[in-house]
Amino acid sequence: MDCSAVPCVALTFDDGPGEHTSRLLDILAAHEVPATFYTVGRQVEKRPDVIRRMKAAGHQIGNHTYDHPQLTTVSADEVRSQIARTDALLRAQGVTPSTVRPPYGSYNTTVLQVLGSLGHGAVNWNVDPQDWQLRHTPTVVQRVTSAASPGAILLLHDVHPTSVDAVPEIIRTLKARGYHFVTVDQITGGVAPGTLVHRGVRP
Ligand code: NI
Repeated sequence: MDCSAVPCVALTFDDGPGEHTSRLLDILAAHEVPATFYTVGRQVEKRPDVIRRMKAAGHQIGNHTYDHPQLTTVSADEVRSQIARTDALLRAQGVTPSTVRPPYGSYNTTVLQVLGSLGHGAVNWNVDPQDWQLRHTPTVVQRVTSAASPGAILLLHDVHPTSVDAVPEIIRTLKARGYHFVTVDQITGGVAPGTLVHRGVRP
């Protein structure tokens, strides 16, 4: 997919894998849409089979820390531990994690330096429907589809069934507008270690 020639968006799902993630994988498969999952190590330990299924389906799998601390409030050693531990859990499932999403989108120079030392770039988002708070499917659909633009990275949380329920209509609506769904790595062209992107450019 050449995202400089056609409009692309990337669906991203944070905080899983959870109890609704397998159903989400069914939906993505039915629509032949790839996504990017920012997984939490503590959840990877509980559902390694779901990680293997993501990998087999060709989804991008990234690191969202071990247990979701705000990285700007912990020591550099703790940042390193949070990321390295989750990298190891993903690698144990045959996954090479690509990029980190810092919890709450929260980062500073120290956080980015530590991520860079572990070979990771960071990825936030362009469109945040606040689905975790809203938990109302039609409004999540409306917020995402009205805010989407070419190159946008869309933030959702696969731990909420109301968010998973929004995915089919988000896909149908944006495909009807000519959008192609791609992974974060496809939309950004890859993220250099120690840098942060929203949509392929540094903010
Ligand atoms: Ni999160």
